[in-house]
Amino acid sequence: EQINKGNYEHYMQKEIHEQPESLTTTMRGRLIRRASSKEKTVLLGGLKDRLKTIRRSRRIVFVGCGTSYNAALAARPILEELSGVPVTMEIASDLLDRQGPIYREDTAVFVSQSGETADTLHALEYALENGALCVGITNTVGSAIARNTHCGIHINAGAEIGVASTKAYTSQIVVMAMMALAVGGDSISHQRRREAIIDGLFELPNKVREVLKLDREMKDLAELLIAEQSLLVFGRGYNYATALEGALKVKEVALMHSEGLLAGEMKHGPLALVDENLPIVVIATRDACFSKQQSVIQQLHARKGRLIVMCSKGDAQSVCPGDSCRVIEVPQVEDCLQPVINIIPLQLLAYHLTVLRGYNCDQPRNLAKSVTTE
Ligand code: G6P
Repeated sequence: EQINKGNYEHYMQKEIHEQPESLTTTMRGRLIRRASSKEKTVLLGGLKDRLKTIRRSRRIVFVGCGTSYNAALAARPILEELSGVPVTMEIASDLLDRQGPIYREDTAVFVSQSGETADTLHALEYALENGALCVGITNTVGSAIARNTHCGIHINAGAEIGVASTKAYTSQIVVMAMMALAVGGDSISHQRRREAIIDGLFELPNKVREVLKLDREMKDLAELLIAEQSLLVFGRGYNYATALEGALKVKEVALMHSEGLLAGEMKHGPLALVDENLPIVVIATRDACFSKQQSVIQQLHARKGRLIVMCSKGDAQSVCPGDSCRVIEVPQVEDCLQPVINIIPLQLLAYHLTVLRGYNCDQPRNLAKSVTTE
C-alpha cells in the first residue's frame, strides 16, 4: 500500500504529505511519557548496549552523502549539547579522498536512507579498519550499511520512491534527536531541556500537519519564481542544514541553480551577489540566532535584496516591517526540532517549481535514488 501514489500525482508529493504519519512511525515505541511517574525517556533498542561506549568516545563523526549528510548536520548541535562529546561532519567521498583520521576511540555514525550508497559504504569499511565503533542509521532493513555496522537505528519512514529524499530526511533528524537524548543520558543539568524535546517530539506530527497547509502558498511562490535562474537560501545554527537541504531540493528536482549558505558567511562573499533581482530565502525562525538573522535581513534590505523570509508564526511584522518582503510563517517548535518544520515549505516549493517548469520530480535528470558506484 506504501508503493502506490494513492490520490497524489507524484511520489514526491505523496511522500511530502505523508510526513505526519512517517514521523509517527519513526517514533512509535521509542518515546515514553508516563503520566503516573512523570517519567519521560527514549528507548532505542539498537543502541542500548553501546550507549556507554558512545558517551565515552573521543568524538562522534557523522558520515553521509546528499540529504542524509544534511540531516546529520541538522542534528549535530543537539547531539553536541546533550552529549558533551565533540561532533564532526564528514561527506563520505571527502573522508575517503583525504583518508582522514578515524580512531579507535571514535564513534562513527553512517547515515543513509538506502543503506547502499557506495561512498558511505566504503567510508564504513574504512572506519571499521580503523577500529571505530560504527553506528548505522538507515531506512532499509537488511541493507549493507545496516548489516555491516556494529549497532544502529532504523528510521522506519516507509519506502521512499521519489529520487529526491523528503520524508526520510525528517525521520532521520528525529532519529538523531532521539539518539542525542539517549546518548545524553539522565544528567540532572539537562533534565528540563530533555523533557521539552520529548514533549516537542510528541507534538511534532501535528505541527507538520499544520505546516503542510502552506501547500497553496508555496505553489503561488513557485509561480512567481518559475523563470528564475537562481535562488539563494540563507540559514544558520539549527537551520544551516535547512538552507543546504532546501537548495539541494530545488536544484535536484526543479533543475534551478540554488545555493544554501551559512548566513554568518554572507559578508565574506555572497553579499556581492545581492541586487533587486536575485530571490533570496532567509530562514529566521525563533531561536538563539534570531537577532543575528534580523540583522542579516536588514543588511539585505539595505542592498535592495529580493527577500522571502521564513519566520515563526506572528513574527511577520518584526522580520519584515511594512510588507517589505514576502513572508512564510511556520509553527514554532523546540529549537532543535525546528529543522523538521522549516524544510517542509521548501520541499513544497521545490515540488511545485518542478511541476510548473515541466520536469519530472520523481526521476530527475541524471540522478539515481541509490548511487552504488563511487
Ligand atoms: C543520491 C540521492 C539523494 C540521496 C543520496 C544519499 O544522490 O539522489 O537523494 O540523498 O544519494 O543517499 P542515501 O541512500 O545514502 O541516503
